[in-house]
Amino acid sequence: MKIGLLTGGGDCSGLNAAIRAVVRSAIQKGDRVFGIQDGWKGFLEGKNVPLTLEKTSGILPLGGTILGSARVNPLKVRGGIEKCLRHFRRLKLDVLISVGGEGTLRIASVFSQKGMPIICIPKTIDNDTWGTDYTVGFDTAVQIATDAIDRLHTTAESHRRVMIVEVMGRHAGWIATFSGIAGGADAILIPEEVFEIKELCRIIRKRSRRGRKFSIFVVSEDARIRLSNGRILKTPLKKDEYGDVKLGGIGELLGRELQKKTGSEVRVTVLGHIQRGGSPTAFDRVLATRLGVAAVDLAHQKRFGVIAGIDGMRIRVLPIQEAARKLKTVIPEFSQIGRIFFG
Ligand code: F6P
Repeated sequence: MKIGLLTGGGDCSGLNAAIRAVVRSAIQKGDRVFGIQDGWKGFLEGKNVPLTLEKTSGILPLGGTILGSARVNPLKVRGGIEKCLRHFRRLKLDVLISVGGEGTLRIASVFSQKGMPIICIPKTIDNDTWGTDYTVGFDTAVQIATDAIDRLHTTAESHRRVMIVEVMGRHAGWIATFSGIAGGADAILIPEEVFEIKELCRIIRKRSRRGRKFSIFVVSEDARIRLSNGRILKTPLKKDEYGDVKLGGIGELLGRELQKKTGSEVRVTVLGHIQRGGSPTAFDRVLATRLGVAAVDLAHQKRFGVIAGIDGMRIRVLPIQEAARKLKTVIPEFSQIGRIFFG
């Protein structure tokens, strides 16, 4: 079997573990694997490299992706779909395994409908992919954010400050929720719920009365906060060079409001792309390895047009169309746990 493998969209830790797993298990089955370079951009351009055991040896603990990635979406490029289909045929691939998030799933869904045999492995620090409990890269991002919150605790306490930690996650508050719970945040603000500024002010004052003269708030990049006049504070709508929504900046906006309202000294830390870098956690390495092996197994069973996810301890296989239809946002059970510890 001839397998094409690409990593699409924003990178994260654990991609190389997935690449290694696909190559190892494919070669064991007598297959050949071709890595498509720079994600969907490379697929459009027909850029590929044969992947061997030597090329993928030693990459398990490495962050990023040895194949490269890009935000280019072939569905938005004139003639993009036809170009990709042509390259797929020219390379004589039997299947394309694409490791990606929300955008990659939507692209894969279109190619699958056009008859391309395709299997997806879910990855994104946002953990917002429908049909899997966890996506590759999420656990590492949560660990990075938790470490940052732990470090901010001591400096917040020394200076008696309110610290706002802005984390990524797009339209889902998974990173904020998990790192906020793990780091003992005094409030966790996620896109799934609107928060009242007066509630945050109340938390700061209540803690201060208890002798806790500092507070840590974790805010997800797409969180919304209702001000006293009813106006909603949120990141102003910006688009990146690919036409996708660009988030970031809510921490600063919130910090200014809180300083004005409470007189507390506020500092803002934006973790940004740090959450996507560095060595993957053991959990992400195991997850990526399992999903990589599962994807090759599915290819041999000729189960195409599916995503290999995880459901508790087991591999869960779902049609791409279904997974691409909706986002997995934070379920109330998690946000309720966070709330028990607010203030
Ligand atoms: O989807 C992953 C993600 O890291 C989001 O959390 C974030 O909003 C976005 O990508 C940032 O994208 P870029 O790398 O294009 O700046």
